[in-house]
Amino acid sequence: MAAFRSPSSASTGLVLLFLISFCVAAFAGNFYQNCDTVWGKDRAQIYDGGNLLTLSLDKISGSGFQSKNEYLFGKIDMQLKLVPGNSAGTVTTYYLSSKGETWDEIDFEFLGNLSGHPYIVHTNVFCQGKGNREQQFYLWFDPTADFHTYSILWNPQRIVFYVDGIPIREFKNLEFLGVPFPNKQKMRLYSSLWNADNWATRGGLVKTDWSKAPFKASYRNFNTDACVWSYGSSYCSPNKNAWYWEELDFAKKGQMKWVQDNYMVYNYCTDKKRFPYGFPTECAFANIL
Ligand SMILES: *[C@@H]1O[C@H](CO)[C@@H](O)[C@H](O)[C@H]1NC(C)=O
Repeated sequence: MAAFRSPSSASTGLVLLFLISFCVAAFAGNFYQNCDTVWGKDRAQIYDGGNLLTLSLDKISGSGFQSKNEYLFGKIDMQLKLVPGNSAGTVTTYYLSSKGETWDEIDFEFLGNLSGHPYIVHTNVFCQGKGNREQQFYLWFDPTADFHTYSILWNPQRIVFYVDGIPIREFKNLEFLGVPFPNKQKMRLYSSLWNADNWATRGGLVKTDWSKAPFKASYRNFNTDACVWSYGSSYCSPNKNAWYWEELDFAKKGQMKWVQDNYMVYNYCTDKKRFPYGFPTECAFANIL
């Protein structure tokens, strides 16, 4: 405390404070600078000088936003706090997608539920317009009580879905085995909150309770470490190396196994009814290579 009375250390303190806030601003993306609200009019709102974004859904419309930038590979982090209470029928999406008929897409979707019942985190990977690679998980915490970090790692070797830094799913580049991998088309980040009560909760059995509208999801700390597409090529940040070569080490693989053993709800790779004549090629390589 005494130190703050001396003018020189007070100004050092100020400079430090300035530097710290500058760094935070530089790395924690500002929604005004990095995103456009594109759907649902004033149902999508940015607050707190750009640090917080909320989406809302009512009977008339949902809402959504997208990143200003497009990327070809990157590590994308976002903190989300999902619709609390009775969120049955609502779906909050957070995904990367390219355009056109043979688009690529990397999906996080959060399927709401009745109060006290678990959300489902739905994941999928589309390559050249084809998905059918669904995996679903419960979470090990209440995603409506606080913000949690949901990340997509997308580099030339793999796609990894992370929740609070814990990998829940890996989709490897197995192009040498003929499995398509999204590595040629630039993608944009999209997010939306909408009504999907025809399928989302218990397969569509539980409908949205509009008396609880408007439903609201919140976003903060949009962070990208990515190769940003501009004028026909992609520019990577200088600290590209960390994520560009990132792979799951032994400890991370252990964490992923813990999630898959305890929280996995659905895996296309074990759905025999759907694939009676054999599973897709990548399924055999989920835990090797
Ligand atoms: C909703 O809750 C039910 C019962 O607890 C559960 O079976 C289901 O997986 C939960 N999630 C969704 C999105 O339906």
